[in-house]
Amino acid sequence: MNYKELYKSKLISLDEAINKVKSNYEIAVGLGAAEATGFLSNLHKIKSKVENVSVITCLNMGNYEFCSNPEMNGHFINETWFYSGLARKSHKFETVSLIPSHLHFAAKKRLNYKKPNIFVGTATPMDKHGYFSLSLSVTYEREYIENADIVILEINENLPRTYGDTAVHISEVDFVYEYKSPLIELPSIEPNEKDITIGNYISELIEDGSTLQLGIGAIPNAVTKALSNKKDLGIHTEMFTDGIVDLYNEGVVTNRRKSINKNKFIASFALGTKKLYDFIDNNLSVEFKSAAYTNDPYIIGQNYKMVSINTSIQVDLTGQCCSESIGFTQYSGTGGQADTAIGSQNSNGGKSIITLYSTAKQDTISTIVPFINLGAAVSLSRNDVDYVVTEYGVAKLSGRSIRESKRVNKYSSS
Ligand code: COA
Repeated sequence: MNYKELYKSKLISLDEAINKVKSNYEIAVGLGAAEATGFLSNLHKIKSKVENVSVITCLNMGNYEFCSNPEMNGHFINETWFYSGLARKSHKFETVSLIPSHLHFAAKKRLNYKKPNIFVGTATPMDKHGYFSLSLSVTYEREYIENADIVILEINENLPRTYGDTAVHISEVDFVYEYKSPLIELPSIEPNEKDITIGNYISELIEDGSTLQLGIGAIPNAVTKALSNKKDLGIHTEMFTDGIVDLYNEGVVTNRRKSINKNKFIASFALGTKKLYDFIDNNLSVEFKSAAYTNDPYIIGQNYKMVSINTSIQVDLTGQCCSESIGFTQYSGTGGQADTAIGSQNSNGGKSIITLYSTAKQDTISTIVPFINLGAAVSLSRNDVDYVVTEYGVAKLSGRSIRESKRVNKYSSS
């Protein structure tokens, strides 16, 4: 088979790709840095031709008019598993809506509900065997390729070629268009004093030979700075970040003592800077896999001494973690918070850590509260919480009664 000829026969323009969208379609794009920026930044141009188009996304990184412009209401709706800046800003225009789901179930549950008409992924140029690499995310992208009526790939020659379950063959794809754009980057933030204190507390909980999951947000990335004295850590995470590359370069992460996927980094997506993207490019030790695998609590639990580290917004005295909303206002999503917290506690010697600053809004409000705010969404239930760490120290909550964990106050009854 001459794959180059096949590629040519499927090559269309970006405009042609966008014009495949029809009213009432369900279309889906890749996650985070794997989102089809060419497609999304031009989608609004067909506004007058379409109505009621659902755009399935997760952790949008760009600022797209199909959602941020109030005039798009009725034409497009961004149905997303995870709010980021775009969704927060657009919420008031009713052009965005959350799909609540644990990440490991996200694709399965949505696909059971509705099949996509179109999936638009991003991929590296095709190799001589007819394969593209899905590059920066296979969180749900593979499942969507297998289920969409029309599969379109946005080919960006800047994308790193990654391994794991990222390979897609030209025969699985209906159309390709070429769109060279700079990679989406998420710069790491330098840790502040509170991050360093929290990092040191967390470091005390992590034993040599542990396998780590590091969640989204400033604190988990900062925690990596406190781990330089550890040995033989492993990585099994949904999000691959710059901090993990630093730990590898310092010789802290070796993946050698992992009990499954030995000698491999396991992740479902990467989001960071050029340093990270250069590291994962053509790196056989990094395997990207669907969140249905990376975030399955049963799979996570097969790792020995698995430690999950995630952030919350508000935690009440009974241990309910509100990590995705500020009262009624949706702020982010559950992502893999509960998946990884439960998974790590399934593990022999495992620990789940929820971390947050004890105050917010320039120290004007406490984040550790007797009651969660009215309207707040509980991302991790009190039945699943294990350790909570702030700059004031470590609270081990699992297994303890409310009285034993000194969570009793005038508001609690038990
Ligand atoms: N009440 C009101 N506002 C609060 C608050 C509270 N209790 N706690 C935090 N905030 C505000 C902060 O002040 C900040 O707003 P500001 O930037 O205006 O000061 C904002 O909420 C959070 O800051 P941000 O920089 O966006 O946080 P982050 O990037 O460190 O992310 C989470 C923190 C909790 C939003 C993020 O970790 C998350 O979405 N977690 C849930 C999902 C998850 O853990 N998935 C697991 C694997 S990826």
